[in-house]
Amino acid sequence: MANVAVIGAQWGDEGKGKVVDWLASRADIVVRFQGGHNAGHTLVVGNQTYKLSLLPSGVVRGKLGIIGNGVVLDPQALLDEIGKVSAQGLKVTPENLRIAENTPLILPLHPALDRAREAARGEARIGTTGRGIGPAYEDKVARRAIRLCDLAEPETLSRKLDELLLHHNTLLRGLGAEEFGKDALLAQLLGWAPRLLPFMEAVWERLDEARHSGARVLFEGAQAVMLDVDHGTYPYVTSSNTVAGNAAAGAGIGPDAIGMVLGIAKAYTTRVGSGPFPTELHDEIGRGLGDRGHEFGTVTGRRRRCGWFDACMVRQAVKIGGIQGLALTKLDVLDGMAELKLCVGYRIRGEVVRRLPSAPGAQAAAEPIYETMEGWSGSTRGARSYADLPAAAVKYVRRIEELVEAPVVLLSTSPERDDTITLRDPFAG
Ligand code: IMP
Repeated sequence: MANVAVIGAQWGDEGKGKVVDWLASRADIVVRFQGGHNAGHTLVVGNQTYKLSLLPSGVVRGKLGIIGNGVVLDPQALLDEIGKVSAQGLKVTPENLRIAENTPLILPLHPALDRAREAARGEARIGTTGRGIGPAYEDKVARRAIRLCDLAEPETLSRKLDELLLHHNTLLRGLGAEEFGKDALLAQLLGWAPRLLPFMEAVWERLDEARHSGARVLFEGAQAVMLDVDHGTYPYVTSSNTVAGNAAAGAGIGPDAIGMVLGIAKAYTTRVGSGPFPTELHDEIGRGLGDRGHEFGTVTGRRRRCGWFDACMVRQAVKIGGIQGLALTKLDVLDGMAELKLCVGYRIRGEVVRRLPSAPGAQAAAEPIYETMEGWSGSTRGARSYADLPAAAVKYVRRIEELVEAPVVLLSTSPERDDTITLRDPFAG
């Protein structure tokens, strides 16, 4: 089965949207397997611009979209997004969207707790998207989450709400935030039920059928390896496993069905939110990357922090995430820079290491060790073959491949979908 899983190889916002869109046009089914409406990307199709957070990208390309059980689903956010794209002429029906019956829901109390906790953390805040992602995953592993299937059983809902409110109202009270009443929440859940239940199914069965019929499945990751709850820069991470291995558990299919793992990396590095970022640039060069790369969060609108390409970190993401090939994006943002730096390791308290350790103190102390490369004066923008690239740009890409120990299989040279150098079709395995 020729499937592909796409994951971010840095701290998110690597330009997954364009690559996922390109791949979705070659797939039959597109599955979201983790994250929630903390993700966000913009897809330009013809004269329409779609801003998606929860809907799998394939829906825009006329493919079947599946929201897997590994996602945390905010019903209101989904209905709003469906309403928005419908107004743009894209109808979302059970024909083109299916949601796993065991998907945990994000309720209004989750963003309330997320924000109250962030406010209480003050300077130590994680910089979450404030959308309730963390608290919803906490409820899932604590076995008190309300899941999509519960909407079909009002008595189950009522019982589960009692447990959920006991927990959440205690916390909200302690944080000085407003508490939630059961009646209003129950009414809200029952109001969502008839609108959401038609999308519900045991998606594992559909994926199993797809496996047997040879359909092409694209597993669409959100966030990125360095935001993975286990392998990222904890605690400055999201609350799910973002690595490709989670595509199996988060969709309900065996690990052998994941197929080729494609990592997306920007030709430099960005990060939103707090946390360590060894190659961050606080100078004109960093500001220049941010301006030329339009580095503002799709979901948060916050300015992204910018820095040099951290090959040491991406190598780590390649190993941990099982990345077999990279899509390198936004190479054109580096056009015209006299010299470029690649981080090849760190000096941590006098010791040279080739990995970012897990301990927060060591992460904060990591000083990048750079290799300097020549920039290029020509333009890479819109290039569609290696022959169109300046020699120094080709050298830069080749050096990245060596350092991260993975081949670059796609190279994106502008926001336009067709401005992509394809070196290998990921669906070809
Ligand atoms: P949360 O996922 O809202 O809990 O936020 C946790 C961390 O992940 C914060 O640093 C966010 O900025 C970051 N984050 C969450 N989603 C994305 C994304 O789609 N792109 C980039 N960063 C993200």
